[in-house]
Amino acid sequence: MLGNIVVAYVKQAARNSYICKIGCQETETRMSAAIDQSQAGLSDPAVSDKARDWDAGLARRTKSLGGGEITAILALAGSSDVITFSGGFPDPATFPTGVLADIAARLITEDAGVALQYSATEGIAGVRDYVAGRLGSLQGRTPGPGELMVTSGGIDCMELVAKSYLDAGDAVVVEAPTYLGAIMAFRGYEADVRGVPVDGDGLRTDVLADQLAAGLRPKILYTIPDFQNPTGLTMSAPRRTELIDLARQYGFLIVEDVAYRDLHFEDAPPDSLWSIAPDVVLQAGTFSKIFCPGFRMGWAAGPAEIISRLVVAKQNSDQCSGALGQRMLEEYGRGGHMERQIIASRALYARRAALMTDALTAHMPEGTTWTTPGGGFYIWVTAPDGVDTVALSAAARARKVAYVPGRPFYTGDDGAVQIRLAYSRVADELIDEGIQRIGAVLRTALEGL
Ligand SMILES: Cc1ncc(COP(=O)(O)O)c(C=O)c1O
Repeated sequence: MLGNIVVAYVKQAARNSYICKIGCQETETRMSAAIDQSQAGLSDPAVSDKARDWDAGLARRTKSLGGGEITAILALAGSSDVITFSGGFPDPATFPTGVLADIAARLITEDAGVALQYSATEGIAGVRDYVAGRLGSLQGRTPGPGELMVTSGGIDCMELVAKSYLDAGDAVVVEAPTYLGAIMAFRGYEADVRGVPVDGDGLRTDVLADQLAAGLRPKILYTIPDFQNPTGLTMSAPRRTELIDLARQYGFLIVEDVAYRDLHFEDAPPDSLWSIAPDVVLQAGTFSKIFCPGFRMGWAAGPAEIISRLVVAKQNSDQCSGALGQRMLEEYGRGGHMERQIIASRALYARRAALMTDALTAHMPEGTTWTTPGGGFYIWVTAPDGVDTVALSAAARARKVAYVPGRPFYTGDDGAVQIRLAYSRVADELIDEGIQRIGAVLRTALEGL
């Protein structure tokens, strides 16, 4: 009781101190510390001025997680004076606001009982039916009963599979380099995440085969076979077959992330792993790059036994993906807008990728190489030896340009000379200028070696 009175008093005092914010910063900090203390059962706020050390109480699995890179990328989302090649953001020009406004108005007036309500954890039946039909027509395989669920974007699937299947110390193989959100999802469950290199044909299945023969026993292998993040590279058809053979031989689950699959510039990528081997593949899909990330919509397709586990795991994370977003997705897709927009998006991103290649050719210092993507959002740049792209990102910011340094895309210490450039959201007319600035940063660094 006394504790509650103290909390109320201190909260009021803190509110008052907020009014005189300038000059009262210290008072406010003390007040917050006092609130913390009294809520923790220490009823006398005068007992200590010391702020609590919340980090000391962090769970072991969280302590070494990092995450600063993703926070930094998202923090740049709104900055207007920096040319930013950092985040894998779709261009807002691809967001169909007019169509969406109509659909939203209709759903809220006519279908509020579904669209504004909780949904089944595996997703609204009609939405799953739409997604299943789409997979059938695009990938040549339609998920059977229980083989498909709706997720909250692509990352939700990685989180759910990690939560359901990984114990501390379990081995997970990823491509080196790979999407850092996936590394974090697996490490969040204390997995031993190992990288296997990629080349122009995707994951080096020969290196993986050697490691398996030497005793490596992963529970999960995570791959982004199409226009990979961060390299833009695609796994060839023979490598896909080899990978599936290894999964069947050694009994691991392939988690296939198809975030960029539909965004090919010319040729479509080879058949999806899930469509070839639904017995050993869980496909993680997202509508973030082809629809809008703001709705946080995705899917997981795989063996029914696995999907049922992910559904249970989702029940105590977000319980269900937002029903309004699900219904918006369904209406938008069934109306034919999705596939029409994807055609326009492919042309937009293909044009940007070509502008990037021209700019890199014009402005990169000698000895720098880069990938040429056939789709997706990314180009992977390798600078000459001796450069440290983490250290240089401050110099880049000073020149009002941003990229993601290579290191966080690896599980170990690689990536010092590499840079990921996302061209998806940089206006055409800024690409040359932005690359010129990065070229200047690299050149200055090389001169100083
Ligand atoms: C390969 C890959 N998978 C998944 C995601 C996350 O997708 P979502 O925003 O839908 O969670 C991203 C986002 O950049 C990605 O690059």
